[in-house]
Amino acid sequence: MSPESVLLSFFSLLLLLAVTVAGGRDPCDPTTLPDPRSLRSDQLTVLINGYAESRIPLLRSIAAAYSASPSVASIVVLWGNPSTPSQTLAQLSRNLSATASAAPISVLRQRSDSLNSRFFPRPSIATRAVLICDDDVEIDAKSVDFAFRVWNSNRNRLVGFFARSHDFDLASRSWIYTVHPDKYSIVLTKFMITRTESLYQYSCGGGRPMAEARAKVDQMRNCEDILMNFVAAEEASAGPILVAAERARDWGDPRNEGRREGVREAGLSSRRSYHRKRRGDCIREFHRILGKMPLRYSYGKVVDSVGEQGLCWKAGKLVLCDRQLPA
Ligand SMILES: *[C@@H]1O[C@H](CO)[C@@H](O)[C@H](O)[C@H]1NC(C)=O
Repeated sequence: MSPESVLLSFFSLLLLLAVTVAGGRDPCDPTTLPDPRSLRSDQLTVLINGYAESRIPLLRSIAAAYSASPSVASIVVLWGNPSTPSQTLAQLSRNLSATASAAPISVLRQRSDSLNSRFFPRPSIATRAVLICDDDVEIDAKSVDFAFRVWNSNRNRLVGFFARSHDFDLASRSWIYTVHPDKYSIVLTKFMITRTESLYQYSCGGGRPMAEARAKVDQMRNCEDILMNFVAAEEASAGPILVAAERARDWGDPRNEGRREGVREAGLSSRRSYHRKRRGDCIREFHRILGKMPLRYSYGKVVDSVGEQGLCWKAGKLVLCDRQLPA
């Protein structure tokens, strides 16, 4: 190699380094993240995944509702659609700031459309808990507060409003993805509260097997939520906690009739059985790659009332004791 070409390679290396640094920090560099001991516990950070421009009006109302909640410190919209024009995002950002109440709302364009990036640890997260959610799920403020209180007394577990299950199918001798009426082992990222440290564990921990599992998420373009359930269940040696919401509105639910424009079209749920099979494939693959099955079943749903609702005789009828009969 001539001295010129050595020099040239040296400068291209420098250039590459400069671009890498300018193009973004390493999300796994702990020195760029807040000291875990300094994180606050009285509020959480909301990370909303945004992708479809058709859902922006809905996203705006969801973000504004979170901004008014006393449990919320800040809201970050993680925009994953690389083809959305920067102008649209800048406008969205202005619109969101204008409607924000107490908690500020910001928009962050993801560097890639990798689903893993919704779990990147971020320097701006100053709370011990994060709420990961989708742009088509509306939850009433009281239920959000309640879920956060439940998380605060179970800080190593995932808390959510939407649950599913893994299971082992004896006929096919394989892991499957399903719904059990009485137990669950997975909470969905439609609404999921997790410890902030789990983001680091998901994105940076677990060595080569976790790297391979994250690569599988990219390859399947799905299942980042299932992998997060693997990570959290492994850390806690316990399954997630399902909480009852007073009013949960999932616009992506295929059972919706009065559809809001653009929401169902963008959703995956219509291809349900295909979806379920692919999710089963993910569970199988994660189990194979990680060499274990950390998912654990949980039972029951946490409700926000300690009322004892028995049956009482009133006006000659057996009715719920709290029921007020018309005089
Ligand atoms: C921002 O708000 C204006 C005025 O309400 C609206 O016309 C526009 O579509 C909004 N844009 C985005 C991206 O939210």
